[in-house]
Amino acid sequence: MKALVLAGGAGTRLRPFSYSMPKQLIPIANKPVLEHVLENIRDVGVTEVGVIVGDWAQEISEAIGDGSRFGLRVTLIPQDKPLGLAHCVAIARPFLGDDDFVMYLGDNMLPGGVVDIAADFAARRPEAHIVVHKVSDPRAFGVAELAPDGVVRRLVEKPLQPQSDLALIGVYFFTAAIHRAVAAIEPGERGELEITDAVQWLVTHRARVTASEYDGYWRDTGRAEEVLDCNRQLLGALSARADGTLDGASELTGRVVVEAGARVVRSRIAGPAVIGAGTLVEDSAIGPNTSVGRDCTLRRTTLMDSIVMDGASITAVTGLRGSLIGRNAVVDTGAEGEGHRLVVGDHTRVEVAA
Ligand code: TTP
Repeated sequence: MKALVLAGGAGTRLRPFSYSMPKQLIPIANKPVLEHVLENIRDVGVTEVGVIVGDWAQEISEAIGDGSRFGLRVTLIPQDKPLGLAHCVAIARPFLGDDDFVMYLGDNMLPGGVVDIAADFAARRPEAHIVVHKVSDPRAFGVAELAPDGVVRRLVEKPLQPQSDLALIGVYFFTAAIHRAVAAIEPGERGELEITDAVQWLVTHRARVTASEYDGYWRDTGRAEEVLDCNRQLLGALSARADGTLDGASELTGRVVVEAGARVVRSRIAGPAVIGAGTLVEDSAIGPNTSVGRDCTLRRTTLMDSIVMDGASITAVTGLRGSLIGRNAVVDTGAEGEGHRLVVGDHTRVEVAA
């Protein structure tokens, strides 16, 4: 079996971050989403991985290299425009050949892994196998209607009156039968070749399509709120480790990781939290539920429930929460004087306390 990871796309819902980086490299617990994805694929025992890349091909390539760091062999497959998930399958055909493959959306987080689901696919040998997850409001999702034996009867995209609460999530197992389906479908309302339409085409043409329910924690990290929620979830599973330096006036409580080369001076860090390599935290209170990337500087700052990315600096700002701070961003209280001064990029969101 091979794997096809989708790491192109526009990422419009994750602006402004997607203006300067691919959303698949957003750090969750200080590790890019795409690395979490590749680790799950490796755990299934797949080694040949095709990665669809769009405008951020260079950055993705620099981040994952040839895949050997993960025990994988990575082939990058460029996509000129984000023309849909099924379009990705079509352009990957030369890489995939007639092999079975797992298709994995590069922004989906399933910390419970997909090993059991892969085993289900191998045991049942359907022509396609989808992954579903119970959601409270299925109207925003592709929804699967299943027979009691787990065979898919019908897929409906964003139904107004859902007949099931099982949403399709971003992992699919396919045999070569999917290529006939992808060749047969037309672009949908969004102008994209939809994978839901391709799978429904198989169902309509009497192919056996089955489903496994994933009941662990799942997030599509397409939006800032989801990124922060996922960060909280993953930090909760950390084991405490202090490889950096901590002075006598500082205190760590709960599960805190201080990476090698980080310095904590006269500060309190409440876990779960991670402080990245080379970062300085001084006269500050950080956490809980917070990750700070590498080479950041945090002085006289209080910060909780947040992600601070590499190279950012925060000085003398207190009460920060639920924040996502981009690479090399500067947040401080500026010079004496009245009012707030903002230099923020397009589609940035700033909330100032009332
Ligand atoms: P989406 O999140 O559905 O699409 P998007 O990245 O365009 O995001 P937005 O809606 O915010 O603009 O894509 C799911 C995953 O698949 C994501 O990792 C991007 C990837 N993808 C491709 O690689 N090629 C494509 O043509 C599309 C549509 C998505």
